[in-house]
Amino acid sequence: MKNNENNIFPVFHKIVQREEKEKLLKQKAQVIWLTGLSGSGKTTIARHLDQELYNNGFVAQVLDGDNIRSGINNNLKFTEQDRYENIRRISEVNKLFLNCGIITLNSFISPTEEIRNMAIDIIGKDNFIEIFVNTPIEVCEKRDIKGLYAKARRGEIKNFTGIDSPFEFPENADVEIRTDLQSIEESVKQALDFIMPRIAL
Ligand code: ADX
Repeated sequence: MKNNENNIFPVFHKIVQREEKEKLLKQKAQVIWLTGLSGSGKTTIARHLDQELYNNGFVAQVLDGDNIRSGINNNLKFTEQDRYENIRRISEVNKLFLNCGIITLNSFISPTEEIRNMAIDIIGKDNFIEIFVNTPIEVCEKRDIKGLYAKARRGEIKNFTGIDSPFEFPENADVEIRTDLQSIEESVKQALDFIMPRIAL
């Protein structure tokens, strides 16, 4: 009733159903969600997974923090509230892809249990594969590909995850990847071993 009060009438039942589109694409849509610190390797793994899935005949879309934040979410910063809104919108975008039968590869820090649980609530537990890219902060800081840890240490960036903004370890991740202990290929294979049976039709 709430929608009608706002004069909004969403139509979901007249469009071609997700199952039909999944049949067409010969895959089961799933949301693959990589959480972890900046520099932990989420984006690298997501890109490799995208290529591997493509090579195996699957259609996926990469959704990535830096890209999304320069487009649809370019009005958001890194306060707790804005991070929440960032993930809320991304979760809604994920639902659209799911309904299209498409697999998504998300790489977002998504730093707290509250934020990740909100994403799971919107997307649905059955659709959600959580991968924790568990790279120790010392390693991320040593890599510092974007130079952001150095800036954060100098106080030039506020609310930087792991420095002066929290990162809570996921309690219930489906896969935990240690990029500091194995090669990219091994990390990708570890993720694929979990993903493949869940996207096969
Ligand atoms: S999230 O916390 O809202 O999930 P998101 O994954 O979208 O973050 O964006 C993280 C990326 O933004 C980082 O990889 C980094 O390049 C950049 N960034 C800029 N400022 C910050 C900050 N204060 N904390 C974390 N990442 C930041």
